[in-house]
Amino acid sequence: MSADYQVQNNVAVITLNNPPVNGLGLATRSAAVEALQRADSDPAVKAVVITGAGKAFSGGADIREFNSPKALTEPTLHTLIRTAESLAKPVVAAIHSVCMGGGLELALGCNYRVALPGAQIALPEVKLGLLPGAGGTQRLPRVLGLEASLDMIVSGNPVPSEKLADKSGGNALFDEVFPAGTDLVAAAVDFANKVADVRRPGAPPLPKVRDRKVEHADPQGFLEAVRARVKAAAGAFPAPLECVETVAASVELPFEEGCKFERERFIHLTQTVESKALRHAFFAERAASKVPDVPADTPVREIKSAAVVGAGTMGGGIAMNFANAGIPVTILETKQEALDKGLATIRKNYENTVRKGKLSPEKCEQRMALVKGSLSYDDIAQADIVIEAVFEDMGVKETVFRQLDAVMKPGAILASNTSTLDLNRIAASTSRPQDVIGLHFFSPANVMKLLEIVRGDATGKDVLATALALSKKLKKLGVVSGVCDGFIGNRMVEQYIRQAGFLLDEGALPQQVDRAIENFGFAMGPFRMGDLAGNDIGWYIRKRRAVEMPGVAYSKTADLLCEQGRFGQKTGAGWYDYQAGDRTAHPSQAVDEMIVRHSQDLGIARREISDQEIVERLVYALVNEGAKILEEGIALRASDIDMVYLSGYGFPLYRGGPMFYADTVGLANVLAAIGKYARGYHGEAWTPAPLLQRLAAEGRGFNG
Ligand code: NAI
Repeated sequence: MSADYQVQNNVAVITLNNPPVNGLGLATRSAAVEALQRADSDPAVKAVVITGAGKAFSGGADIREFNSPKALTEPTLHTLIRTAESLAKPVVAAIHSVCMGGGLELALGCNYRVALPGAQIALPEVKLGLLPGAGGTQRLPRVLGLEASLDMIVSGNPVPSEKLADKSGGNALFDEVFPAGTDLVAAAVDFANKVADVRRPGAPPLPKVRDRKVEHADPQGFLEAVRARVKAAAGAFPAPLECVETVAASVELPFEEGCKFERERFIHLTQTVESKALRHAFFAERAASKVPDVPADTPVREIKSAAVVGAGTMGGGIAMNFANAGIPVTILETKQEALDKGLATIRKNYENTVRKGKLSPEKCEQRMALVKGSLSYDDIAQADIVIEAVFEDMGVKETVFRQLDAVMKPGAILASNTSTLDLNRIAASTSRPQDVIGLHFFSPANVMKLLEIVRGDATGKDVLATALALSKKLKKLGVVSGVCDGFIGNRMVEQYIRQAGFLLDEGALPQQVDRAIENFGFAMGPFRMGDLAGNDIGWYIRKRRAVEMPGVAYSKTADLLCEQGRFGQKTGAGWYDYQAGDRTAHPSQAVDEMIVRHSQDLGIARREISDQEIVERLVYALVNEGAKILEEGIALRASDIDMVYLSGYGFPLYRGGPMFYADTVGLANVLAAIGKYARGYHGEAWTPAPLLQRLAAEGRGFNG
């Protein structure tokens, strides 16, 4: 049963029962409609209470039904809501914990709403690029008024139930919010009996939200101001403004016409690429934590304490993640000076957050108290997990792992934060490769959501399962990658950066490349990104690769830049010039001249390069390498690659990630463009991925 029926004290109690959050899937809707009809025809029943079992009233539409015809099969959500609304007996929604989306729309179709305090109330559809499509945009303004309902619908953010019961202005979502700890069903049954008792012949009809009017002194003036504000904030996403227009319809149109308009705009939004991208990301995020050969019941190791080796840029940020999650962490360094500097940076970061009002001074101290420093391996030997974040040098890493192998307690997880190096080799320097895993954080490690979890050939399944569970505890998005140079993210970005360099040789300047890709929607172009991360990192990696992989060509411009000491923001100069204490990138005449001179040295006649070519070359370089990564099994699924790029590389969310974007362009079109660029400068970089060729020939996409 997905809706239970029980009569208590002459009141039918219908309990939505579809774990985990009582999603309003087809079976639940059918059972709820049947229960409402049963209550209607039962002479012993005076009124109805609808509530939810377990952890929610209802989280809304059943996400498992998304994109399936089930969502449109009768009884639809509309039918359920209208059945509740047109019942001859009073219907009371009894809300606790979570009431969102379709759940709230159902509650709005009831005659009365009561709640416990602390319930999260929201219409979050906008977060998936949609709008509430079952009357929410027409009913909520009739209850809460224009301003409060617009806030909720346009932001999608939850509001606690106790804030929605203030009737002083005549607007309240709830007829009553009971004191905390009240037995909700018993109180709702009493409430239902009370409202039923006053229903004698001649009494006014049952209150229905649809019969109310949206009150506002100057709706048009107010809506104009909101349109301007929302338009500016929404960027490329159409849904927020569509939310405003449908709410506006609740003021301007009769209820039924408003609902028709809402339906039309809802269907329009479901077809937009932006909503498809957001829904893709929503499902991709959930898929990422699943590894086919590591079932959900795989045992995990307990992580109650942690250690980090290296207190540099990454080590400090990684340690903060543990402290934020309440896990004590010890940082190991070789020199007191480096340790002091690392610990001071952590304190400074926390104090900045306190200054911004986002952390209380007490919490700052609590977190600092969880972070210890040490110069001795003995002090970290008992940690449940140790993450190495020392220099990106195989020799140094092997030495560290040999020492970790010697001191760490049995069962401890030995992780490396390496961004490119061979994890299998690192694991082989220990006697326990099954305990070794890559945990690749992104800079700044205390901020960036992405965590690449690198599975070595010997990594134990329980170690992988523990890393996935840990990523959730640290509020990261864990994506599993196999072992290869650069793993998923950096191996792909390598091809993107190579193309950016070739574009300079051929005629573009850094500011043009950055502008084109930023207009496409990237948070930051490749040259501004290089200046932020430090151009010396890539320089160092290219030197290593020149030995390990001779024959891979790069533009020499980046090396010329580094030879001048222009490492980026940290040296006050990189691809751009910087003024002290300011991160604004100013085009550099010296760099531009250096680039032009280099083209001359190569004998290249510089040409005008279109923004379209820049975008295609950078993005398709990601796509082509992504396809190789997918085919080699380095990534488990195309959507994992998209999540890496959305959460770690500033790829525009409304385009859904590189693989999803390629699907929207059409793989045959992507392949044709790759063929064209393969005939150009350094065309050898464009060997098409066999998977891309195959899917394009079959007329398919990466995501099915
Ligand atoms: P960093 O140079 O800022 O810090 C390295 C720290 O390790 C230094 O404080 C050094 O004193 C310490 N160290 C060196 N050898 C040691 C040893 N034997 N025992 C204890 N401490 C030792 O380097 P960064 O940027 O933090 O990078 C560390 C690792 O993280 C590298 O593997 C790098 O590839 C990776 N990484 C770096 C990212 C970045 O954006 N900087 C992003 C993701 C990963």
